Amino acid sequence: MWVRSLLLCGVSFSFLLSVAAGTCKDADMHHEIISEGRPFAFNCSYPPVTNGAVNLTWHRTPNQSPVSNNRQLRNHQDQTWILFLPLEEGDSGIYQCVIRDAHSCYRVAVNLTVVRKHWCDSSTEGPRNLSLSDEYQQTLPMGKSGSLACHLYFPDSCVLDLIKWYKGCEELKAGKQYAFSGTKLLVNNVAAEDGGSYACTARLTHLGREFTVRNYIAVSIKEVVSGRRIPNIMYPKNNSIEVQLGSTLIVDCNITDTKENTNLRCWRINETLVDDYYNDSKRIREGIETNVSLKDHIFYTVNITFLEVKMEDYGLPFMCHAGVSTAYIMLKQPAPDFRAHLIGGLVVSLLLLVSLLFVYNSFKIDIKLWYRSTFYAAQAPDDEKMYDAYVLYPKCPRESQHHSVDTMALKILPEVLEKQCGYKLFIFGRDEFPGQAVANVIDENIKLCRRLIVLVVPESSSFGFLTHMSEEQIAVYNALIQDGMKVILIELEKVKDYSSMPESIQYIRQKHGAIQWYGDFTETSQCAKTKFWKKVRYQMPPRRYPPAPAVQLLRHTPCDHTSGKWDAVTGLITP
Ligand SMILES: *[C@@H]1O[C@H](CO)[C@@H](O)[C@H](O)[C@H]1NC(C)=O
Ligand SMILES: *[C@@H]1O[C@H](CO)[C@@H](O)[C@H](O)[C@H]1NC(C)=O
Ligand SMILES: *[C@@H]1O[C@H](CO)[C@@H](O)[C@H](O)[C@H]1NC(C)=O
Ligand SMILES: *[C@@H]1O[C@H](CO)[C@@H](O)[C@H](O)[C@H]1NC(C)=O
Ligand SMILES: *[C@@H]1O[C@H](CO)[C@@H](O)[C@H](O)[C@H]1NC(C)=O
Ligand SMILES: *[C@@H]1O[C@H](CO)[C@@H](O)[C@H](O)[C@H]1NC(C)=O
Ligand SMILES: *[C@@H]1O[C@H](CO)[C@@H](O)[C@H](O)[C@H]1NC(C)=O
Ligand SMILES: *[C@@H]1O[C@H](CO)[C@@H](O)[C@H](O)[C@H]1NC(C)=O
Ligand SMILES: *[C@@H]1O[C@H](CO)[C@@H](O)[C@H](O)[C@H]1NC(C)=O
Ligand SMILES: *[C@@H]1O[C@H](CO)[C@@H](O)[C@H](O)[C@H]1NC(C)=O
Repeated sequence: MWVRSLLLCGVSFSFLLSVAAGTCKDADMHHEIISEGRPFAFNCSYPPVTNGAVNLTWHRTPNQSPVSNNRQLRNHQDQTWILFLPLEEGDSGIYQCVIRDAHSCYRVAVNLTVVRKHWCDSSTEGPRNLSLSDEYQQTLPMGKSGSLACHLYFPDSCVLDLIKWYKGCEELKAGKQYAFSGTKLLVNNVAAEDGGSYACTARLTHLGREFTVRNYIAVSIKEVVSGRRIPNIMYPKNNSIEVQLGSTLIVDCNITDTKENTNLRCWRINETLVDDYYNDSKRIREGIETNVSLKDHIFYTVNITFLEVKMEDYGLPFMCHAGVSTAYIMLKQPAPDFRAHLIGGLVVSLLLLVSLLFVYNSFKIDIKLWYRSTFYAAQAPDDEKMYDAYVLYPKCPRESQHHSVDTMALKILPEVLEKQCGYKLFIFGRDEFPGQAVANVIDENIKLCRRLIVLVVPESSSFGFLTHMSEEQIAVYNALIQDGMKVILIELEKVKDYSSMPESIQYIRQKHGAIQWYGDFTETSQCAKTKFWKKVRYQMPPRRYPPAPAVQLLRHTPCDHTSGKWDAVTGLITP
């Protein structure tokens, strides 16, 4: 029984121990040597855990007595801080802060040693020695400017102000050598004499009570090593390089390093040496390192060679390493020359437009004729007109002229336009009923026509246009021009001088031009597919009737049939 209770007791004791100690991990141990009589604060922080919501408590070992939260007490916990206002000699010892959250528990310990220091009081033996027990050690760079920091870390409940600096026992004044900036002392043009014991003091106000914080700082002077300690990669500078696909590229890595450093310098891709990464193809190789010794450092160059740039190289960082320093280059495809493309595109569009216009101009007649033959086939225009064109031509007394104009009007025009193309013409001198008054004929019939074909002969080779065309005809023709009827002007010979022609003819000629007749008047074959007739047909309205049998427009029109069967119908035009 006794043994059993002892056993039980032992088991529960060890269990309790394991709960108390075993579940908490020791995270950190800090050592603080602080002089007595000044305020001291320590913030418990263990970054992996203290970021979230945690329970944090301060204890003093060895008996784990908790530190009170009562802010009026000299020693208390203020949120994550432990505060001593001020430190007393008996405060030396180990303090633990226990950080507990839902899953874990950590212990951060502070080994606090309180020391007695003598500061420039007349009561003490004299100036202090620079001792290792000074709380802070700082350095100033020889020959340059440097700064010292007054470490004033206290919780927000403490207000700090009136920061003063001392060297030995003498207060420092701002001036040529010293300047103050917040909690910092700036020292200009540091000399050997600037080393030694410094102190900074500050007024601390907590819940209306005032304290003086005094930090002792042991300052040593250091020779600065000229140049940078770590290798400096001068090139590349994490830049990109435009390079054409398939070209060869060599890039230098230029590095400066101190003489003492024995760093490895190399090119890597994806953390692998390029020589290993492209072991098989040897397409990308690292060059042999070269060096130039300068005054106080060495300049190294190691290049990388791309025998042939491939698509997969673009966008990858090729890293130059020199010890801890790295810098990369990235290959980029050259941007297409925007301006060249734009200009090229414009030129091409312009050429295309010009050639389209050219093609249209050259073939517009054929296009229109083809269009008509395809879509207008034998479709009568729905107007009241009976004829497609009224043919107006001068009467020529002279035999030669007479012959050519009449042949044209009475034979060739009907042969092509009526027989081959299926138009219906009204030709004065052929279609009027005998005995009809001229004025009536013109008046009645011209209104039934869709076009007016005017045959013109040069003034010089005749006796004048006006004299050879009846007055009535001219009058009607003038009226029609005013009505807006379309006029087709056919020059039977080249007319050099239009000035003696009626103004309306001059106007038509100027506005719409004339069609020049090139052939002769020998009554031989005429084909609707020649250039001249295409031009005429182009001006004519769409075909009204199907062409005469055996004559196929725009298909294989037989152009070899002669007009020999035509009777000469001459001399029908009477004045
Ligand atoms: C004190 O520590 C806590 C975490 O424990 C942290 O959040 C806070 O920023 C610290 N305060 C100062 C002034 O460093
Ligand atoms: C902290 O501890 C108190 C009591 O000790 C408890 O009520 C509270 O929930 C704890 N908070 C956290 C975040 O663990
Ligand atoms: C605490 O510091 C004192 C003096 O600095 C030292 O003697 C002692 O061993 C330290 N204690 C621990 C647990 O480190
Ligand atoms: C100061 O240094 C001298 C010798 O350099 C030594 O004798 C003396 O004990 C030191 N005083 C203090 C307070 O450390
Ligand atoms: C790298 O150094 C070499 C040798 O001094 C020089 O020729 C080259 O221009 C430098 N390259 C760059 C990118 O600075
Ligand atoms: C770089 O290495 C990682 C992991 O080793 C791999 O997933 C990735 O594909 C590699 N990249 C290239 C470009 O080879
Ligand atoms: C490179 O390739 C050769 C054979 O091609 C092989 O012997 C060697 O081990 C390879 N090295 C690496 C680092 O892969
Ligand atoms: C690249 O390095 C090699 C040595 O490996 C050298 O022969 C070559 O001239 C270097 N190329 C350039 C462009 O610096
Ligand atoms: C500089 O290059 C030479 C050979 O060119 C080599 O012997 C020497 O070790 C190199 N120096 C350094 C510091 O790399
Ligand atoms: C270049 O990139 C590397 C790694 O990404 C980085 O360590 C280095 O600071 C960068 N250097 C510059 C000049 O940005």
